Amino acid sequence: MQKKLSVSILDSDFSKIKETIKKLEKNKVDWIHFDVMDGNFVSNLTFGAKLIKPLRKFSNLTFDTHLMIKNPEKYLQNFIDAGCDIITVHYEATKNLKKIIEVTKKAGKKIGISIKPKTPVNVLKKYLCCIDLVLVMSVEPGFGGQIFNESVLQKVLQLKDLRETKNYKYIIEIDGGINLQTAPIALKAGVDVIVVGNAIFSSKNPFKTIDKFKQLLK
Ligand code: DX5
Ligand code: ZN
Repeated sequence: MQKKLSVSILDSDFSKIKETIKKLEKNKVDWIHFDVMDGNFVSNLTFGAKLIKPLRKFSNLTFDTHLMIKNPEKYLQNFIDAGCDIITVHYEATKNLKKIIEVTKKAGKKIGISIKPKTPVNVLKKYLCCIDLVLVMSVEPGFGGQIFNESVLQKVLQLKDLRETKNYKYIIEIDGGINLQTAPIALKAGVDVIVVGNAIFSSKNPFKTIDKFKQLLK
């Protein structure tokens, strides 16, 4: 699969969010990564479906939605209705993964499951047959700009092996601490999609930095 860049807007200037989305569209990034946080599952609070919905009309890019919220099944329909293309929930945040997978797929959306750095791949075994994406966290979820935890690449290798031996179809995405130095390491381990936030929006020229990441993906 062609490697992809999913740009997290968490550390972008929220007063200019519409322009940012339109510029990301113009810059032909692959996906836009929305970090939804509830202040409960993670100790940070960001935004919900109400912020994503009005942005849908400004972009045809894939809306890659990372739900760092407790009991995401309670809010799933809001994100489906907001036009999210990929909805990723945390394994650690719900007891209703089977239902979430069913409802999301029935709505014609892609379903992902994310695991925190300390959560082993084994917990996902019974879901891997039927999901579209696994989001491997390379930081503790909650904040942008943290340091890449290289040990999680073991899980990337494990997911790659499992996908090959069982002929599964899920995409492997990595999220947290990805910059121009750590991206090549993660890509070499076999990730298909890299999420990048702070390394882009803390740089002097974010859209030049995006071009550098796109070079790495070639
Ligand atoms: C962290 C989020 C990440 C973050 C992007 O909980 O899931 O998507 O915003 O990470 P950085 O800023 O490290 O690229
Ligand atoms: Zn994220």
